[in-house]
Amino acid sequence: APVTAKPPLDILLCAPRGFCAGVVRAIDAVEKALALHGAPVFVRHEIVHNKYVVESLKRKGAVFVAELSEVPDATRPVIFSAHGVPKSVPAEAQARQFFAIDATCPLVTKVHREAEVHHKRGRHILLVGHAGHPEVIGTMGQLPEGAITLIETLDDVARLTPPEGRELAYVTQTTLSVDDTREIVQGLQARFPALIAPHKEDICYATTNRQEAVKRVAPLVDGLIVVGSPNSSNSQRLREVAERAGCPVSRLVLRTNEIDWSLFGGIRRLGITAGASAPEVLVEEIIDAFAERYEVTVETVSTADESVFFPLPRELREPAPSAA
Ligand code: F3S
Repeated sequence: APVTAKPPLDILLCAPRGFCAGVVRAIDAVEKALALHGAPVFVRHEIVHNKYVVESLKRKGAVFVAELSEVPDATRPVIFSAHGVPKSVPAEAQARQFFAIDATCPLVTKVHREAEVHHKRGRHILLVGHAGHPEVIGTMGQLPEGAITLIETLDDVARLTPPEGRELAYVTQTTLSVDDTREIVQGLQARFPALIAPHKEDICYATTNRQEAVKRVAPLVDGLIVVGSPNSSNSQRLREVAERAGCPVSRLVLRTNEIDWSLFGGIRRLGITAGASAPEVLVEEIIDAFAERYEVTVETVSTADESVFFPLPRELREPAPSAA
């Protein structure tokens, strides 16, 4: 049979993409806990929002639970996910004398502490974020009910009636759209000129850098794939950024089997990125799937260098060798 030549496809790989320092730390924490303490190790909530990561940790002996009440054995380690937890969770863990390990990303903890400081100073707090996301639940849960008002949209800004006679401060979720957040914050500042802002941006470096890379690549390609999970906030935002930057087709895809070839079957240039919780092996899998249908060339388009590293949670660090 005659061999039909594959059509050419240029793949532009966004960089940075994929794992951020907080995700690496959270996954390492589960693996280190398993290595030090054996299986099972309980993990409250998906440690990071990626099925592939969760499944591979399950195979190594991690047991995922929605709430601490599902943990049957207080002698086993319990790890809190990278998204952070409401104060009630470590409180319950302490009451039940659990061996708790907090894998909350340090950049989420930074937002928690900021909110606490505002509260101590008598300020009412606005949290810009998405209702229902575990990070938002965790941040709201740092303070008593009513201390924080969630702001999701410009409509919320217009409708907001903050408590009278109090200073107002805002904090944000770490994985938001940089552009949407700027609009919302400008809306808040227009209504409340004395609004107190974070010292340093709450949207994290990883979110910002991944969105920047997509903005560079999206106008150059006919389609863009974000490797990531539908429940991953930062991955969803990457897809939106691609769409707004004028990319005709952008899809969030967990694995190769989710690629809709009716959309990606006749393109000439493809962009690929990955959410902060998506492992690079899944990016490689996607490239391989395209290489079966196309003659691919792969080029990396880099808009930033990252060298952020977070040490493991204290409970998992090796004791320092004694200077004997
Ligand atoms: Fe942390 Fe940002 Fe990653 S808040 S978990 S570094 S996406």
